[in-house]
Amino acid sequence: MCGIVGAIAERNIAPVLLESLKKLEYRGYDSAGLATIENKTIVIKKECGKIDEVDQKVNLKDQKGNIGLAHTRWSTCGSVTKENAHPHQDCTKNIAIVHNGIIENHSELRAQLTHKGHTFTSDTDTEVIAHLIEENNQGNIVQAIAKTLKQLEGSYALGIIEADNPHQLIAARKESPLIIGLGEKENFIASDAPAILKQTNKVIYLDNEEIAVLTIDEVEIFDLDGNKKEKEIETIEWDSEKAGKQAYEHFMLKEIHEQSSTIAKTLEQNIEDNIDLKEVKRIIIVACGTSWHAGLVGEFMIEELAKIPVEVEYASEFRYRDPIIEENTLIVPISQSGETADTLAALKEARTKGAKILSIVNVKGSSIERESDAVLYTKAGPEIGVASTKAFTAQLTVLYLLTLHLGKLKNTLPKDQIANRVRDLRKIPLQIEQAIEETQHIKKLAKLFYKKHHALYLGRGINYPIALEGALKLKEVSYIHAEGYPAAEMKHGPIALIDEQMPVIAIATKDDRTYKKVISNIEEVTARGGVVIAIATKGDEEIAKKVDHVIYIPENSYILTPLLATIPLQLFAYYIATLRNHDPDKPKNLAKSVTVE
Ligand code: G6P
Repeated sequence: MCGIVGAIAERNIAPVLLESLKKLEYRGYDSAGLATIENKTIVIKKECGKIDEVDQKVNLKDQKGNIGLAHTRWSTCGSVTKENAHPHQDCTKNIAIVHNGIIENHSELRAQLTHKGHTFTSDTDTEVIAHLIEENNQGNIVQAIAKTLKQLEGSYALGIIEADNPHQLIAARKESPLIIGLGEKENFIASDAPAILKQTNKVIYLDNEEIAVLTIDEVEIFDLDGNKKEKEIETIEWDSEKAGKQAYEHFMLKEIHEQSSTIAKTLEQNIEDNIDLKEVKRIIIVACGTSWHAGLVGEFMIEELAKIPVEVEYASEFRYRDPIIEENTLIVPISQSGETADTLAALKEARTKGAKILSIVNVKGSSIERESDAVLYTKAGPEIGVASTKAFTAQLTVLYLLTLHLGKLKNTLPKDQIANRVRDLRKIPLQIEQAIEETQHIKKLAKLFYKKHHALYLGRGINYPIALEGALKLKEVSYIHAEGYPAAEMKHGPIALIDEQMPVIAIATKDDRTYKKVISNIEEVTARGGVVIAIATKGDEEIAKKVDHVIYIPENSYILTPLLATIPLQLFAYYIATLRNHDPDKPKNLAKSVTVE
């Protein structure tokens, strides 16, 4: 949460910072600000609102200077006000600082600093850091920062500039992500790679409790005791064009459309050599949000085909109880960003108990990747829309590949069955394109339903998590209250809510297990005057007689239907959000990468 960028260069830096900051807006967008040094004076402009609104109000890009910092905020400590927007300063205005993370002992530190005569202008934990650096500064800013960091409890990614020394930019991190970008006669810091890919693809990943000192020509990294560290320079393969919106009105729509190619890329990987999984007796999947829904589908796949018991846990719950982890338990964290604080903490908790960690992540170089014994990558590319779409289907693809691999190792799947199943998986990219062809029909349905206040999503078996995910998508981007339920459970509560004002979206794909049962559940809804939209298998003419509206998806094996059923639900949520005049890429109050608890 919160995006930070910083740069030191020979050119005027504000327009570059502004462009980079916009790439980080998915991390938060309640206020934004930018600081540069002009003639040994720090100039700061900041305001509430999304970055474009702030730029219109105060003209961020016109700031002068070749060193600067910028920040887009997702508020944690202190409400959304101009005063609480970053950058923040100390009493003497000698430094400016941007921060992503949470300082847990900020109240105590603020009290001590107030007692020593410091005056605060905001309610944030970040401003406390600025004053503490001022307090600790005996003439060497790097030493003052190191001393300060030792006094902080919590998480931080920091960018710091000093009016007295406009030739260096300082950065540090603990638990919140930060990368250094290496350019020609210019260097950068950023929360995430897409922000600086246009400038450079050579990066250094800063590790916990490291301080980076950037000048135009050089980047030096130190630990908190001042020892210099050698770091590897890595090259990022994502190209900056692909991270752009291209012809689509929103990233969310672009990312929905990309799914046939991202799945095609993801399914090409070979997971044989990753980690030895022969002895695995139990699997615990830990994740948050949409990634948790992918985990629920994974549970179904793995138990059904590889016959290994699987539990799926909210990472935030897992980390705070005392989970039992026996020998040969494999932990599988799933995370698009690889930075979600709860998932990372759950991983660490499991590791202290001796578990092996096999992560599924999208962002290379992320903290979760680096803390794991082995990693399977979703090859979804940069996902910018806050509501996850293409990362979700890529996660399902990886989980299916993992299932087949485990089935082979455990001898639960004969060779010819694996070959057939891989063939089915290879059909998915084309079938996704076919599912997207229903767009005009889905748009029409969105027009019929966009004014409703509630919606119920039903699914059974492997499509129950897809009902949860469909409801989450609608909630996230359209702000309509929606619930996902296992279809049969509807009788134990939600049925009381059914009337013509509450659309019911039922996943009723043709299979020999749950189809008939879901049809009975649908009849229970229509008998009570409920309006039903069914997600059904192409060719199923019968269902059209039983429901108000049908959206068809292509036929594939039962276990792969989640990859297809999820497409119309994503499109439905997207079009409802745009009809309600909401920006689906930046839903209010949400952030893409939740790096705080
Ligand atoms: C946030 C995002 C969701 C995402 C969840 C988990 O809530 O808005 O889209 O599913 O975090 O994120 P992760 O990066 O760990 O998959």
